[in-house]
Amino acid sequence: MSHNSSPQTVTTTKSEALKGSIRVPGDKSISHRSLMFGALAVGQTKIEGLLESEDILGTAGAMNAVGAVCKKHDDGTWTVDGVGLGSLMEPEAPIDFGNAGTGVRLCMGIFASHPIAVTMVGDASLSRRPMGRVLDPLREMGTEVIARRGDRLPATIRGAQTPLPTTYRVPMASAQVKSAVLLAGLNTPGTTTVIEPVATRDHTEKMLVGFGADLKVEINDAGERVITLQGQPELKPQNITVPGDPSSAAFPIVAALITPGSDVLVEGVLLNEQRIGLITTLLEMGADITVENERESGGEKIGDIRAKHSALKGVTVPAERAPSMIDEYPILSIAAAFAEGETHMLGLEELRVKESDRLAAVARGLEANNIPCVEGEDTLTVTGGATGIGGGTVETHLDHRIAMSFLVLGLAADKSVTVDDAAPIATSFPTFLPLLKELGGKLSVQGENA
Ligand code: S3P
Repeated sequence: MSHNSSPQTVTTTKSEALKGSIRVPGDKSISHRSLMFGALAVGQTKIEGLLESEDILGTAGAMNAVGAVCKKHDDGTWTVDGVGLGSLMEPEAPIDFGNAGTGVRLCMGIFASHPIAVTMVGDASLSRRPMGRVLDPLREMGTEVIARRGDRLPATIRGAQTPLPTTYRVPMASAQVKSAVLLAGLNTPGTTTVIEPVATRDHTEKMLVGFGADLKVEINDAGERVITLQGQPELKPQNITVPGDPSSAAFPIVAALITPGSDVLVEGVLLNEQRIGLITTLLEMGADITVENERESGGEKIGDIRAKHSALKGVTVPAERAPSMIDEYPILSIAAAFAEGETHMLGLEELRVKESDRLAAVARGLEANNIPCVEGEDTLTVTGGATGIGGGTVETHLDHRIAMSFLVLGLAADKSVTVDDAAPIATSFPTFLPLLKELGGKLSVQGENA
């Protein structure tokens, strides 16, 4: 996995117009869940378009370690032979989740209501991230936890023999926390209720219903989402086609917007409402973005997104929009560097606990490239239109999205931009560098010919 391999220094330089039609890999959130829910179903789930990145291969390994069989076939599709809810086996060795917050947190939920002991480890980035947000509600459901480093990895959990259903109000905007509690609720007798004051991505809810769970979502008088799940359903295997990841599509889209003359089409992208806050923001900034060929696939809206070079202007991005674009602030800050005026991003507290402290990592990266910005506790303001930008080396802190964002910057900046380690890109978007080249991006990998 990249976190153990040697750093890969990559530099991008001012490029001609980016042109072409591309597909980005499958959605990371849906890929994780396809393997996990397939493992909990009885029978064989078939998956087309699975994201084959380190994070997802880690989840496949985790599901295999508890008795499922996740397998890739010659035609590129994957199958998961599920063991069935309640029948997970105790793994023989610690499970390494690498860099994957979603992988480990959702699996904690699954393991929590099975009477097995599981030790989970991760890379340096994942070992710094808070796990208490997931472990606390799981403890309430009867799970035993041994995590000596203040609820950080490595951690061992011993799932409850007789788990207790809970009603849990998620204290932060986190789909991972919501999902962990719901997944623990799957093998728990009775009704598990999760109250979500701020709506976050709803893949767990939608996909569990698809797999046959009895799950309902209602909006209460306070406007909160109330999700109720009846425990111990028999989950039925599914045929899943994973749509393109909007969080990966964000990089070529912004690259096209900031590189003069560009016209790029990204085909087959997931357009779930909880995932397209960046597109809303870019349109407000004046981006020439159109969605073509809108269609439905597996209960989700998908479409082809065309982005052309645009004159952007700064905007204020409201805090309420953060959950629908939580992974997109690093690349938005690059678009903001090319916009006229200031872009204010509000409500960014969750960025502090991503693969890196993304707020700080973005601010330091912008500063290293002479782009004026002000980092607040949970805000970022970027002033666009500065001249002489670029020329810096960016520390990526094992964060794939920091690496990709600053490589996009280098395509349109006055001077080249270097990232100290692009290896973590393999956690979510292994084809990023070849796709960038295919579109006409100029990049060089240290030790390789450009
Ligand atoms: C994810 C939820 C988000 C997001 C992550 C994927 C998911 O994390 O940042 O990349 O698949 O549930 P939080 O729920 O912690 O915000």
